[in-house]
Amino acid sequence: MTVSDPVVEEVVATISRSATEIRQGLIGRRGTVDGENPSGETQAEADVWADELLGDRLASIDGVGQYASEERPDVVDCGDDPATSDAYAVAVDPLDGSSNLKSNNAMGTIFGVYDAALPARGETLVAAGYVLYGPITTLVIATDETVAEYELSGGERRLVERDVTVPEEPVVYGFGGRVPDWPDDFRAYAREIERELKLRYGGALIGDVNQVLTYGGTFGYPALESRPAGKLRLQFEGNPIGYVVEQAGGRSSDGERSLLAVEPDELHDRSPLHVGNDELIDRLEAALA
Ligand code: AHG
Ligand code: MN
Ligand code: MN
Ligand code: MN
Repeated sequence: MTVSDPVVEEVVATISRSATEIRQGLIGRRGTVDGENPSGETQAEADVWADELLGDRLASIDGVGQYASEERPDVVDCGDDPATSDAYAVAVDPLDGSSNLKSNNAMGTIFGVYDAALPARGETLVAAGYVLYGPITTLVIATDETVAEYELSGGERRLVERDVTVPEEPVVYGFGGRVPDWPDDFRAYAREIERELKLRYGGALIGDVNQVLTYGGTFGYPALESRPAGKLRLQFEGNPIGYVVEQAGGRSSDGERSLLAVEPDELHDRSPLHVGNDELIDRLEAALA
């Protein structure tokens, strides 16, 4: 099953074809480099390498006017301006959960295709999704029509689910940050959820969100006392994941509103990130009101 918009299809096909190469290329790139990324975080060799590989390929697609990455300070202009043409802007987290590389745990690649110049509100997304480097390499793609899941192998993608939806009954939860750093109102909500659901927290947003899409529940990286904007980046993580979960029938929130409605100031803005079953997100927002 291909995506109807030819430019989006080319973006998705490029990422699918690159996924097998990225997975293979993780071997031997598990160390860190001296540099820091624009969020001030230590970079893994694989972060830089995956960004260069994806950046070159995605920026050369006709119809992609901008490329931006968690690993690069500025947007790369690579064609028509998405603000004044029908070109798209592609935002990528080349390797999500790269700290899991050392411990060989799940990681991912996240992408968002925006019909606007970056930084942009998530409402301007026309497609978003992620590759999950788990026991199987899978790809989840959300468009305004559906959320589909594929298995990737040798550059090919095989459709395994054409209508991914968040299951009605929530089962799992995962909350990031350290418990003493949680604001009291969030901690009270978390204590309720901990009594109702099973803990699943793997340290990579993509792995944890895929659990929520598969079993139902909620994932949150909340606003912390020490960092009120939380840890995760709106353009590269919050918006694409919020779009996927909302298209799958769930909700997203920064604690007050849909992540897709948050107006960004800067390309690397962070935002509290909550996704999952709608009633759980409703309860979260009530607890933080
Ligand atoms: P990235 O590797 O792209 O920087 O993302 C890491 C993020 C996200 O994947 C995950 O949910 C979160 O960091 C985990 O943070 P902690 O290590 O603080 O739990
Ligand atoms: Mn990082
Ligand atoms: Mn990430
Ligand atoms: Mn990353």
